[in-house]
Amino acid sequence: MKKLAITLLFSVFLLPLSSVTVIAAGGAGVEHSGANINDTASLQRGAKWYANYCLGCHSLSYMRYNRMAEDLDLTEDMVMENLVFSDAKFAETMDIAMQPEQAMAWFGKTPPDLSLIGRSRGADWLYSYLRGFYRDENGAWNNTMLPNASMPHVLWQVQGIQTPVYRQETDASGFTHEVIDHFELTTPGIQSPAEFEETARDIAAFLDYTGEPAKLKRKGVGVWVILFLAFFTFIAYLLKAEYWRDVH
Ligand code: HEC
Repeated sequence: MKKLAITLLFSVFLLPLSSVTVIAAGGAGVEHSGANINDTASLQRGAKWYANYCLGCHSLSYMRYNRMAEDLDLTEDMVMENLVFSDAKFAETMDIAMQPEQAMAWFGKTPPDLSLIGRSRGADWLYSYLRGFYRDENGAWNNTMLPNASMPHVLWQVQGIQTPVYRQETDASGFTHEVIDHFELTTPGIQSPAEFEETARDIAAFLDYTGEPAKLKRKGVGVWVILFLAFFTFIAYLLKAEYWRDVH
């Protein structure tokens, strides 16, 4: 019976491990982002980058400014002064002014709403995407995660310009192609490569958070639920021991 109690206790502790799912999208080149939605400072920086560099084109139509302020420990004044550049009100959703038809004419594609992008692509993909812009031989922007993306590299002044260095690769049928081996930063940006990694991580973390704001609470509550279950198992075991003492 002791064995059963131990197994029970273990399964309660191992439960959270088994529920950790790997969201990382497939395909080569997805790097580990290290994005952490419990790092509030990182989310705050991500929100600032997002408002300054992304919100012009990509709405977050499921996210309200006031909800974000509450989750990210920001005051109304901080949000209204630093993150709202339209005539939006504090209680409104993070929409954009651009008309879809205009966007279509400018980019040949409407920039998608990114409310749920953290869930569909995952933080690692987003991190890799933001770091994956490069300028090809013809001087055009391209991206390793989304080849021929119609989104311009909006952070190029921050990151600088990277150009690919190719290597030859022979496939199974004996054909050789050029594949990107690595990038070279040919024009430095405002940030160093290490700083830009952090910027990409912050934005990825922010989009991971906006994809599921409840994750912040869900994870916090989860810990207490597991602790309660462990405690309860212990109590139940003591009770069982008490009852069986008379039987033996
Ligand atoms: C000038 C407008 C513009 C700005 C600013 C912009 N984007 Fe985009 N973005 C686009 C367009 C257009 C696409 C569609 C690309 C495609 O599918 O070819 C896109 C696509 C994306 C996608 C891919 C969605 C998918 O999975 O298909 C992500 C992620 C994204 N943008 C994130 C960002 C982030 C983060 C920022 C801020 C750093 C940003 N964008 C700023 C125009 C913009």
